[in-house]
Amino acid sequence: MNHAKTTSQRFSVELPVYQANLGCAILDGSGFPDNYYFQDLGLKHTSFCQSAICYIDGAQGTLLYRGYPVESLCRQYTYESIIYLLLFGELPSKRVLTTFTRKLHADMSVPDYCYQLLETLPHDHHPMGILLTLVSALSADDTQLLDDPDDMAIRIIAQMPLLVAMSQRHAKGLPPVRIAKPTEYVEDFLIYLQDQRPSTLAHQVFDRILTLHAEHEQNASTCTLRVSGSTGTNAYAALAAALTALWGPAHGGANEACMAMLEAIGTCDRIPEYIEKAKSKTDPFRLMGFGHRVYRNRDPRADVMKSLARDVLDHKQDEPLFRLARSLEKRALEDPYFISHQLYPNVDYYSGIVQRALGIDCQSFTTVFALARTSGWMSHWLEMQRDRTPIIRPRQHYIGPRQRDL
Ligand code: CMC
Repeated sequence: MNHAKTTSQRFSVELPVYQANLGCAILDGSGFPDNYYFQDLGLKHTSFCQSAICYIDGAQGTLLYRGYPVESLCRQYTYESIIYLLLFGELPSKRVLTTFTRKLHADMSVPDYCYQLLETLPHDHHPMGILLTLVSALSADDTQLLDDPDDMAIRIIAQMPLLVAMSQRHAKGLPPVRIAKPTEYVEDFLIYLQDQRPSTLAHQVFDRILTLHAEHEQNASTCTLRVSGSTGTNAYAALAAALTALWGPAHGGANEACMAMLEAIGTCDRIPEYIEKAKSKTDPFRLMGFGHRVYRNRDPRADVMKSLARDVLDHKQDEPLFRLARSLEKRALEDPYFISHQLYPNVDYYSGIVQRALGIDCQSFTTVFALARTSGWMSHWLEMQRDRTPIIRPRQHYIGPRQRDL
């Protein structure tokens, strides 16, 4: 039922233009006439906030955290430094990092009722749903809320390794692991998860996975966190909102969906069939782990993820899936449809392969993404507190019936 009338009328308005530090010029819509709404379905061309945290150049395939390219950060800094960089804008000195990580490690525990709540949940629940349940419970607990926004953000980031590990283990029928004395963020996560010290390789690869997924400006989950946070809701509640948005297969759920797709394809001889399905306008199937709203050339995270897959698969049995993924990528990149639609592998294309090689279950991949992205989400939440962001309340193009009598 679409009651909208199209009109050939054109409209012009003079608006101030700002040149951003990097990237597209910004039309300042604050002076837009009250009797018009600007329609931008999917918010493809809308900047709805100002932020100094992350910059993406989709044409060049560049991703900067606070001005630094993500590939260089991955190579030279640990995830703990990346958390600090995202939250506070600068890379920490050794001394600052020591103080910061001490604070982070002091806050890693969760209240006892989280463990009790976990026991009431069936083991066949999805780990993302379990994580969401635990975070929602924390949102109702005033004693967990801190007045200082910096401390609040740090507490949430500190609790996530345990919450994510609890969710993953519960979905496998395993009890939570407790650590006597936390030592290092990524190592602690892996101990909470696997109840043993990780190998140096696993530690390093996980550190990089977390850095690669840490931040990505106004993606669907960060945007959701901002909308939720703009109402003044508490940080756990805003985090829960972000988690729900991340879960979907078009966003953070793509790593799980991509692995399911590769398993369904199974062998290289079936690749052409799936390429045709992805191109068909009558088939809803899409190549998972391919395409991105912003990147039109390459996703720099995908390149690093592919090299991590090479590192971890060196000695592992499931190499055939990696071979299949590489063949599918090659075939797609040669296909005129993928070329003309500017579709390239995104970060999720190889991330499932890497995570599975490190012992993570397919249905838990998105919780690892959530763990990583929490530093980005909390950076945006902090930025909103500092900037006193107004409530985000867009308008709509109404297409329902005119007023009528009952
Ligand atoms: N396979 C086949 N066709 C595709 C794909 C794909 N993966 N992605 C986009 N297209 C086509 C789409 O059918 C449409 O074609 P046409 O113009 O001929 O109708 C065109 O490309 C534009 O699609 P769109 O949905 O308007 O593009 P978007 O920028 O709104 O969507 C996307 C971006 C990521 C949702 C989409 O590319 C997609 O669904 N990809 C698969 C899911 C995925 O891998 N998601 C992870 C994204 S990266 C990590 C993250 O952000 O969480």
